[in-house]
Amino acid sequence: MQLAEHSPHGLTGICEDYRFLCQEIILPEELHFRRNGCYRLASAADAYREVYSNQPLMRRYMSGLLMSNVLWDPHARAIESYVTHYLPSLSDGADHLEIGPGHGLLLYFAASLPSLSTISGWDISPASVAHTQSVLDAMGAAQKVRLQLHNLLHRNTGMSGSFDSITMSELLEHLEDPAAALRAAHDLLRPEGRLWVNIPVNSPAPDHIYLLQTTDEACRLVEASGFDVIDQKFFPMTGSSLERARRNQLSISCVITARRAG
Ligand SMILES: C[S@@+](CC[C@H](N)C(=O)[O-])C[C@H]1O[C@@H](n2cnc3c(N)ncnc32)[C@H](O)[C@@H]1O
Repeated sequence: MQLAEHSPHGLTGICEDYRFLCQEIILPEELHFRRNGCYRLASAADAYREVYSNQPLMRRYMSGLLMSNVLWDPHARAIESYVTHYLPSLSDGADHLEIGPGHGLLLYFAASLPSLSTISGWDISPASVAHTQSVLDAMGAAQKVRLQLHNLLHRNTGMSGSFDSITMSELLEHLEDPAAALRAAHDLLRPEGRLWVNIPVNSPAPDHIYLLQTTDEACRLVEASGFDVIDQKFFPMTGSSLERARRNQLSISCVITARRAG
C-alpha cells in the first residue's frame, strides 16, 4: 500500500501492470512452452534486445512482478523465507549484494535490516535500476543502498572477496551460462560468505533463456559451481502440490541457501 501511494499510477496502475504481466507477458510464453517444451528465447542478446532495453515494457513487467509477490504463492513464500530465515541469519556488519534486484522488493527488505554494514544492487537493465530506485525512494530506504547499472558477467575486477552475502533471485534462468554467474558470485564472496538463490524450473517468461526441468538440477547447478547447499525449499505454482507440479512440469521456485565449499 505504501508503494502504491507513491507510485505515479497508484494501486490501480500497479493492478493494471499485473494484468498486463499475466495476459501479455507470461501467457504467450506459457503457450509456447507447453507446445514446444522449451523457452522461446535462447540468447542473452535477444533478451536484452526484446526485454531489458525496452523501457516501457520493462517498467510494466517489474511493476506487475512486484504485485506477483503478493498474489503468487511461490513468490510470496520465497520472500517470506528470505525475510524470516535468510536475512536474520546474516552476521552483524555484513556486506550484502543483490544481483538483478528488478522491482527492488528484496533489496528493500535487506535495507530494512539495521545490522548490515553495506547494501549494494547491480542490474543490467536501466529500467530495472530506475524501478528499484523508485521503490527504495518510496519506502524511505534509498540512502542505505548503492545501486549500479552493472552486468554481473562483465569486469568485476578488484571486487574478489568483497561480500558476505549475495542474493540472486529469479536471475539465473535469465542467463546463457548460469554456472558462470554462480562462479562469479563465488569469487565475489568472502570465504564464509552466504548465497541465497531463487531459481524457478519450468517457468516460461520472455527473458527466461535457461531451462531447468527439475529441482534436483537446480541444486546440482549450485553445487557444481563451488557451493555447499545448506538449505533447500521448493514452492510449487499457486494451487498445485509439489507432487503434481513435478508430475506435470509446472513451475516450481527453488530457494537454495549455500556457502562456499571447502
Ligand atoms: C525477473 S527480474 C528479478 C527481480 C527480483 N530479483 C525478483 O526476485 O523478482 C531479473 C532481473 O535480473 C536482471 N539481470 C539479468 N541479467 C543480468 C546480469 N547479467 N547482471 C545483472 N542483472 C541482470 C534483469 O535486468 C532484471 O531486472
